[in-house]
This record gives sequence, C-alpha cells and structure tokens, in this order.
Amino acid sequence: MMSVSFDQLDGYIWFDGEIIPWNEAKVHVLNHGLHYASAVFEGERAYDGEIFKLTEHTQRLHESARILGFTIPYSVEEIDEACRQLLAKQGMKDVYVRPIAWRGSESMGVSAQNNRVHLAIAIWEWPSYFDPEQKLKGIRLDIAEYRRPDPRTAPSKSKAAGLYMICTLSKHAAEAKGYADAMMLDWRGQVAEATGANIFFVKGDKLLTPTPDCFLNGITRQTIIEIANRRGIKVEERAIMPEELEGFDESFICGTAAEVTPVAEIGPYTFTPGEMTRALMDAYAAEVRPSLRAAAE
Ligand SMILES: Cc1ncc(COP(=O)(O)O)c(C=O)c1O
Repeated sequence: MMSVSFDQLDGYIWFDGEIIPWNEAKVHVLNHGLHYASAVFEGERAYDGEIFKLTEHTQRLHESARILGFTIPYSVEEIDEACRQLLAKQGMKDVYVRPIAWRGSESMGVSAQNNRVHLAIAIWEWPSYFDPEQKLKGIRLDIAEYRRPDPRTAPSKSKAAGLYMICTLSKHAAEAKGYADAMMLDWRGQVAEATGANIFFVKGDKLLTPTPDCFLNGITRQTIIEIANRRGIKVEERAIMPEELEGFDESFICGTAAEVTPVAEIGPYTFTPGEMTRALMDAYAAEVRPSLRAAAE
C-alpha cells in the first residue's frame, strides 16, 4: 500500500522560529547536515494533547547537539514552547513530534565552524510503529550484522542522525528476511538494543536490560525502570551476552515510537509474551496518557 509521501502531508512546520505551511519547509541541497550528518533529532509522543516528558526530550536534543560540537540557538524553554504551540496549531492530540537541528549551507567541507544551526519541528500521526496484530503476538527480531560502535569510535550518547546509518541497514536486512526489526549487539558482542528502541528481558520475576554504555539510555527505558521500581520489580542492568537469551522467559523492546512492544523471537531464541510484559505495556500506556495517569494516582 502506498502512503502519502511525507513532504506532501498537510499542516504546519515550526522552522527557525516561525510556523510555516508544511510544503514550504525546505532546505537547500548543499547543507552540511545532509552531506556530513551534522544533525541531531528527537522523537516524542503527545497523548491527549500533552507531550510526554517534553523537557527531558528537549534537554537531550541540546545535549546531542553539544556532543556534536554545536549549539542550538533556542533555549530548552523556547523549544518546549515551540513544540506546544505547533501541537495546538495542528489541532492534534495523539501524535509523534520530531524536532531536528542541523548545520546549514554557509560552507561546504568537513569543517563547518561557522555554519548556522537550524531547528525545525514537525508533528504527524504515527499510530503504531509495528503492525498492531503482530505487535500483540510479539514481533520477530533478526540479529544484526552491524554492531553498536565503541564510544571511542562514535558519539554514541548523541541522538545523531549519522548513527542511524547502521540502524537503517540493519532494519532493511531484517525486513528482507521477513523479520520486523533487528537486535544489535555492541562492539564487544554484548546485547545492545533494537534499531530504534531499547531492549528488556524477563527471567522469573526479574527484569534484565543491558547497561546503556554505548547506546541511548532511552527515556522510555528509564520510565519502565521507574515503573518497575515503584512496583517492587527487581531490575538488573548489566552486560548481557546473546547466549543468555536461551534462559530468558519474555522480552520486549521500548522506545517513544515503539512504546512497549513484546518480542516473540530473536534469531534462534524464542519467548512467550507473558504477564510481566503485559503488565508493563498497560502501566506504560497509563503513565504516558494524562487522563489515565490521573485515574491511576
Ligand atoms: C537507537 C535508539 N535507541 C533507543 C531509543 C529509545 O529512546 P526513547 O525511549 O528516548 O525514545 C530510540 C528511540 O528514540 C532509538 O532510536
């Protein structure tokens, strides 16, 4: 099924301080972000018209830019306000929010010391990252050939566009084999994450998740750990070797786009989505949505 191309959607985009019509939000082909991947971005979701953990996302955007050596010319408060204004202007309640900052066109070449830094924010409807039917049964993950790089090799704490090159390659390779996504190992051969989400395992009544020392410590991941702590569920953050997956009962991935998605297979290892995954899926769904959060308190 062909969907409408993203540059053809309706609505507005916040672009360098102004809200402009969607189809006018253009950049020149000679911009440093496109050629040299000097771009950082965020992925946020609004539920009932409120962006979940907005300030944490905006702070991460600022930090991602700082790690790449540039400063976004808007404060965290200004970006938060821009996201809220755009959300109100678009008149949508349950949406995905994508701020992106990049170096502009003032000079071309590896060095871009004086290139202007731009910021744009787009909002669109993105209901479920995975096929909803497949999601409930648990998705199937391949094991990627590319590995998350050593932090001495790449700025792994930045949500930098360039780091997604190996994610797209890995996801395409997995999809070509009929999988929904891929689980990536890190440079040491330890379990890392999926191509756009963190990963958890369940063993008995305990949660396990890899220590995020060379990939994003996702805001969703941190939320799941907070929920687990509140419920007295033990969480072990540690190095996990792929062979250990044999002994785990359940698995799920989590991220802003993926939310909590049960996993049924990772390469040769199989899991049965069970009580713990279901309970955390429901708890996360209640946590992010103001109306349900209020009811739960
Ligand atoms: C590679 C990668 N890891 C982890 C995450 C999860 O991060 P968050 O929960 O902050 O969305 C994402 C999603 O943004 C991601 O793209």
